[in-house]
Parts: sequence; C-alpha cells; structure tokens
Amino acid sequence: PQKVGNDAAYEYFKDGVLAVQNDKIIALGDAEWVIATLPKETVIEHLPDAIITAGFIDTHIHYPQTDMIGSYGEQLLTWLNTYTFPEEGKFFDKSHARDVADRFLKELLRNGTTTALVFGSVHKVSVEAFFEACEVDNLRMICGKVMMDRNAPDYLTDTPDTSYQESKELIETWHNKGRLHYAITPRFAPTSSDEQLQLAGKLLNEYPDVYMHTHLSENKDECAWVQELFPDSHNYLDVYDQHKLLSERSVFAHGIHLCDSEYHRLHKTGSAIAFCPTSNLFIGSGLFKLNKAEEHDVNVGLGTDVGGGTSFSMLQTINEAYKVIQLQNENLSPIKSLYLSTLGGARALRLEDKIGNLAVGTEADFVILDKKATPLLTSRLALSKNIEESLFILMTLGDDRAIQATYSAGQCVHKR
Ligand code: GUN
Ligand code: FE
Repeated sequence: PQKVGNDAAYEYFKDGVLAVQNDKIIALGDAEWVIATLPKETVIEHLPDAIITAGFIDTHIHYPQTDMIGSYGEQLLTWLNTYTFPEEGKFFDKSHARDVADRFLKELLRNGTTTALVFGSVHKVSVEAFFEACEVDNLRMICGKVMMDRNAPDYLTDTPDTSYQESKELIETWHNKGRLHYAITPRFAPTSSDEQLQLAGKLLNEYPDVYMHTHLSENKDECAWVQELFPDSHNYLDVYDQHKLLSERSVFAHGIHLCDSEYHRLHKTGSAIAFCPTSNLFIGSGLFKLNKAEEHDVNVGLGTDVGGGTSFSMLQTINEAYKVIQLQNENLSPIKSLYLSTLGGARALRLEDKIGNLAVGTEADFVILDKKATPLLTSRLALSKNIEESLFILMTLGDDRAIQATYSAGQCVHKR
C-alpha cells in the first residue's frame, strides 16, 4: 500500500495476522510465517468472519453539529442561519460541550473512525472540552476553535484579536499533546474579515506544523458571495492564498466549484481537499470532481461533514461517494475507496508515518469488519468472488453494524 490509490497498490492476506504490542503494530502478514516469529506466550484471537483494516480517517467533521444531523430542507447559507448557528450557540457552556463531545467520539468509534479533523465552535471551551474527551481513550484527533468575526449572530462571533489570542493559547496547551493536534480554523471566507484571515495566516506562520482547516467552494451562492466580499481576489481559493493560509497541513472541505488554477495552487502548496459526498448531496451543493483533483495531483481525503453530512459511517460515506462519481460517468473502485478512507486521509493529514496502512511500526489504530454483520451481508458476501468485491459489498451495504470492534493505540475502544 505504498503507492497512491491505484488498484494494484494494496496488500491482502487471506489468512493474515496483525500482531500488536502495547500501542504499535509489530508484525503483519500471512498467518503461517507471522505466527512463527511471535513469542510463544502471544495471545492469538481468531476472527474467521472478519476483515481487518486500518482505522478510518474522517478529514472533515463538525462535533458541535452532532445533535442537528438531518436538518430539513435548506441549502448552505440558509441551513447555516436556520439550524447551525443556533446549535453552535450552545457551546459556550463547557459541560454541554463535553456531553456532546463524549457522544460524538463514541459515535465515531462505533463507526470505525479512529482519527478525524474536527471543527469546534467559536468558543474556546468547546475545543478544551473536546480535547479532554479525546484524552480518555488516547485518540489521535485534530481540532480547532472556529474563527468568525462577521456575517453571523453576535452570540457566535469573536474578534480578530480574541480569535488570534485564544487560538494561540489552545495551540500552546494542546498541539502535539499526546496524540492531539491543533487546526487553525477560520470557518469560511464569508465569516472572517480581512484582518482576521491575516491573523490566521500570521498564526500559521508562527506555528508551521499546526493544521489549517476551513471550507472552500461548496455552494454556488456562497462562491458568488465570496467574490462580492473579496473583490480583489482572483477566485475563492485566492482569498485564503492572499492571507497565506495554504500549506502542507491545510485541508479545505468540499472544493466542488474550482477552476484549474485553484487545483494548481492546491497542488503546488501541498494542500488537501476533503471530499464530503453525503453532505454535498444532502445540502444540494454539487458533485465533487475527483478526476480533476487527481489530474492535478491534489491530495484528497474523505469527510462525513456531519451535521451537513448524514452519516458518521465512512462505509456509508464511501457508498455515497461511489454514486457521486457514477453521476459523472466514472467509477470509484473499492480499493481506491479504501485508500481514500485510510491511507489517503492519513496522507492528506501528513500522518502517514503514524496511521493509515497497518505498516509495522505504526500505531495500532484498526477496525474489525464483520462479514456476517447482517443477514443480507452474510448471504451477499457468500457469493463474492474476491476481496475487491467483498469490500465493495461491505461499503455499499455496511454501516456501524459492520464494525465488530475498533482499536485505538492498541486498545479496544469499541466492541459491538
Ligand atoms: N460552510 C461554512 N460553515 C459550514 C458548515 O458548518 N458546514 C458546511 N457544510 N459548510 C459550511
Ligand atoms: Fe463542514
């Protein structure tokens, strides 16, 4: 699995062993020879109806939107005003934030997601509550305080100075603490002034190994609004570019309506796009052009974008991604889907030396998929001819029920 998601670049062990010691993977391969290399006292768990894969990586999700998933009838800008902003307004209260963070993390783990790039709310306490919740299970997670100083209700705005200061304090406390990382998180261009975006860029310059996480070109009305608000920008991405927000650790959610020069800049700067199919369909935003991103060699990960997205399940996200690509008369192969949801996400987040492909020496973040999770899966998979087909069926029919167990840093953090 060292090559970019082409169909030949994977390893499959029909009768395989994944050996874990403490928090790390110490061996991987055919059962016959791996078992011979292990100490005699090694405990072996036998899982004949399972497929083990790397933990899923969700490259774009909003934890404060957990309780508003499935909000009816609107596209992006009215959806934000009608549902999202009032919901996020509750996160000034740290105990509320912690309650939601705990439920959010449980839901991720139930769905086999072991790492996510997560939006907090504008409130500093929302990120503190989130990171504190992550520490309980030593999860590898990335989060940031939303920066937004205009075009939102008063109860949900900060100022350029407070957003800079609070983000800085959060970076100092949390970035690289255990397995946690910080992301500078301007919500999207319309909710930040020039001054705020400039300070976000300053912060990224001061902490170059911190992430930058925002939204980009999701919805046509949004794109038109950005051109009005930033008349001197050449295109949407250029607003962020002019404020020095493109980097190897920058992740832009959606990127649906992009021109060639935007793909080119994303490639040049090593930035990534989070492809969020369930959200793009549910909020009626459009079809992500995976072929364009690939043509320009732009890093792509998959995102659920809950609460705009409709499922915490990366399997269901892949299911919808397949349909988005079908509507463009192309195919998304199961191997590429697996890649995008694991190693591709790890690469987008520059974590491929730590997670994403079960390589020996990497962190033991993995999931056990149950081929007999439901009657339909059982009967359908019995007819499957090879691993590609089995994966495709699991991705199409599977959801949280197909996740038998989830492991993070060698510990079982969910068992169905
Ligand atoms: N653009 C700005 N904020 C948001 C958000 O919360 N969700 C989505 N999907 N797009 C956004
Ligand atoms: Fe989003």
